[in-house]
Amino acid sequence: MNIFVPIVLVGVLVLITLLLIIIDKLLGGGKEKILLINDDTVIPVKNEDTVLNTLSAQKIYVPSACGGKATCGFCKFRLIEGGGEVKPTELPFLSAEERDLGIRLSCQVKVKDNMKIEIPKELLNAQSYQTKVVSIEDQTYDIKLVKFKLINPTEMHFKPGQYAQIKVPGIDVIRAYSIASNPKDTSEIELIIRQVPNGQATTFVHKALEVGDKITLTGPFGDFYLRETEREMICIAGGSGKAPIRSILYYLRDRGMNRKVKYFFGAKSKRDLYMTEEFLELSKAFPNFEYIPALSEPLPEDEWQGEVGLITDVVDRLTDDLSEAEAYLCGSPGMINACNKILTKHDIKQHNVFYDKFS
Ligand SMILES: Cc1cc2nc3c(=O)[nH]c(=O)nc-3n(C[C@H](O)[C@H](O)[C@H](O)COP(=O)(O)OP(=O)(O)OC[C@H]3O[C@@H](n4cnc5c(N)ncnc54)[C@H](O)[C@@H]3O)c2cc1C
Ligand code: FES
Repeated sequence: MNIFVPIVLVGVLVLITLLLIIIDKLLGGGKEKILLINDDTVIPVKNEDTVLNTLSAQKIYVPSACGGKATCGFCKFRLIEGGGEVKPTELPFLSAEERDLGIRLSCQVKVKDNMKIEIPKELLNAQSYQTKVVSIEDQTYDIKLVKFKLINPTEMHFKPGQYAQIKVPGIDVIRAYSIASNPKDTSEIELIIRQVPNGQATTFVHKALEVGDKITLTGPFGDFYLRETEREMICIAGGSGKAPIRSILYYLRDRGMNRKVKYFFGAKSKRDLYMTEEFLELSKAFPNFEYIPALSEPLPEDEWQGEVGLITDVVDRLTDDLSEAEAYLCGSPGMINACNKILTKHDIKQHNVFYDKFS
């Protein structure tokens, strides 16, 4: 072969590359943009990536339980300048009031030009953690308690009730799980994970995760956390909704349980109950605390002596005036909506109702 052929080929390739770079520049690509956050942090941005990814590259972690697929609506931020119009994919997650305020989904907005944005200050506290699984314990046939040791960084400071996100290794799946452990244990955190049939993250946790595995968590996130007041409290949970309430109760226990707390836990039959002894012991130790597990469909072999009925009916039956109380609800959206109706019937004020919908 003529030795000039490869040289000519390389020359042509270099020319094409240069041409592409020039066209890209002429079209504005690669142009450096400025992302101004909360009026005090300036980030120079080269690529045209989403706000979510741009922030994540700067180690600012916005909650993103669906991993950027516009199905969770968690990744909200406030757009002050730039960023273009609201996309159809954002609409289902934005109320009219939020749209007026400029609230947007960070996974849907790209940094195409200079932008000015606002994010909640608490998000600056969220980090990405390398962790190691130190124990996995069955609680019921479909619920596991998983403990993670934080390797780097070594401590997570969270408010009781907040959640963390798991990144499933190998697939681009991120899911939210409430932190079930004591906020004072900053070097290890526990999650309670219920298997969802064919669910991507929960199948991984239930079928593949092993002690010793390295897992990336981000957090802490969420505005479902214990408010520091003196109010009487009513907590209602079902299934894995026990997780954040457990963390809240540990926190209150360590401070002498000086608030009156009634905790309703709804399950179908006895095989769906877990950590029952732990909470009954707590109620024995602190007269201010009452634990009320209730079964909606107890089996004859359960020989159940406790409360029977849908959790809404049990709450209705055993609750008096709630006009001065705070409520903490955790579980499926259906359960939370139904319970909120009952609480309203008992005169709770909506600004004293806090919930996390596990959807
Ligand atoms: C703030 C927050 C905190 C959460 N905390 C916890 C927690 O502490 N423990 C916990 O187990 N889960 C918790 N969840 C739910 C969790 O994030 C996942 O949605 C859930 O584990 C399912 O994930 P997956 O990937 O296995 O299922 P996916 O692959 O996402 O879903 C598979 C199928 O199951 C359906 N599905 C998804 N979730 C549920 C569900 N919960 N029940 C019934 N069907 C469902 C989906 O619509 C889909 O059709 C929380 C969710 C939120 C938003
Ligand atoms: S990350 Fe879920 S909607 Fe944006």
